[in-house]
Formats: sequence, structure tokens, C-alpha cells
Amino acid sequence: MNIPVITIDGPSGAGKGTVSRLIAQKLGWHYLDSGSIYRSLAIAVLNQNINVDDVQAIVLAAQKMSLQFDCSDQLRVKLDAQDISERLALEETGNTASMIAAVPEVRAVLLQKQKDFQKLPGLVADGRDMGTVVFKDALYKVFLTASAEERAKRRYKQLIEKGIDANLDRITNDIEERDRRDQARSTAPLVQAEDALLIDSSTLTIDQVVEKVMNLVR
Ligand code: C5P
Repeated sequence: MNIPVITIDGPSGAGKGTVSRLIAQKLGWHYLDSGSIYRSLAIAVLNQNINVDDVQAIVLAAQKMSLQFDCSDQLRVKLDAQDISERLALEETGNTASMIAAVPEVRAVLLQKQKDFQKLPGLVADGRDMGTVVFKDALYKVFLTASAEERAKRRYKQLIEKGIDANLDRITNDIEERDRRDQARSTAPLVQAEDALLIDSSTLTIDQVVEKVMNLVR
């Protein structure tokens, strides 16, 4: 059976999460935040004091980890029955996630966990390689981007609102570094799929972006 998928790829902070969640809500479809799978593995790696260069140990941790997702309101994730939701957004988690995401063996283990989200009546999947690798045959593909400066400002605001201490310069550097790593890796690099619609959200509101994606689906 052909279960429809909308993929929304792009760099971190472009608004993929918010936009994808709203579209999934509007359509009554499932939602996959694939970054949170990489972030959960990063937390497992940090918890077990695994060195980010120790591919074998990271692959083992990825195979062994059990994840439970609750996407009903705010995303809540349990790693081996422990609630890790609050730690997902931390910069340390994101940076570690981006390092381990560059390892092909790690991506291979996480592939099926992502594909399992494709269920009726449909799926909105956000990430870096949703339209190019994981859901290559998706019906609708979007590449959502924004300038690094704008993305850093948004991330800063998000963290402050959550009561997490943040520094704008450091976030801008982290975002640029992560972009470089995500684009330069040899396996599943961050690139726009040939058949994806490009949306630059730098000067658009969330509602305007949602409207553009909904027009594609209509
Ligand atoms: O999207 P988010 O910032 O939560 O992702 C954290 C990191 O996980 C990214 O910097 C990226 O390196 C990695 N990632 C990935 N492929 C995905 C989703 C996330 O490599 N589909």
C-alpha cells in the first residue's frame, strides 16, 4: 500500500519542526522528528561515556536503545523507559548528535527506526535526508532553509523561553559548524532533493510557510 509522505528537510533552526507539526495536525497525519532519534542516541552515548570516535560502541548503543515517542502535544521521548525530553534541546545533545550522525554505520542502524513511522493515513517527516534517503519515493518534498543569522536568533529565543541559559554568538558558531558538518559528510549529506520545493523562511512567518506547503499538497 502506498502511504503518503511529506518530507521537510533543511538545516537546523529553519522552522522544520514547527511547520511539520502544524501540517501533520492539519492533515491528521503522523509526525516524525528524525533529529530527535539522533539526539536520543547522542544522550545514550553521553550517558554511557562513549567516545564519539568509538564507532563500534555507538553502533551497539544504537542497536540496543529502546525509544518511545509521544508526539500528541509537545514531543516527549523515553530512552530505555527514562524521560529524556528536557535534554533533547540542549546544545551539547545537538552537537553530539551531529557528530555521530556523520558515521554511515550509525545511520544504517537508525534507518529502519525512521521507516517504521510511515503509517496510515500519512506521515510528515522532518530531518536532513528524509527526501533524499529515508523516504526517497515521498509524494511531496520540501527543502526549508533560512539564513544562519536568522536561525541562530530563533534558536536563542527558543532556549531562553525554555529557561535554558544561551549565548547568541556561541549558537551562531555552533549552527555554522553543524551546517558544515551536515553538508560535508559523505553519507546522506544535507542537500536539497532534485524534486523538492525550496522555501526560504528568513522573511516568512510560520503560517506563510505552512500555507506554501499546504498548497503543494492541495
Ligand atoms: O534536527 P536536529 O537539529 O534535531 O538534528 C540534530 C542533528 O542530527 C543534526 O545536526 C544532524 O547532524 C543529525 N540529523 C541527521 N539526519 C536527520 C536528522 C538529524 O543527520 N535526518
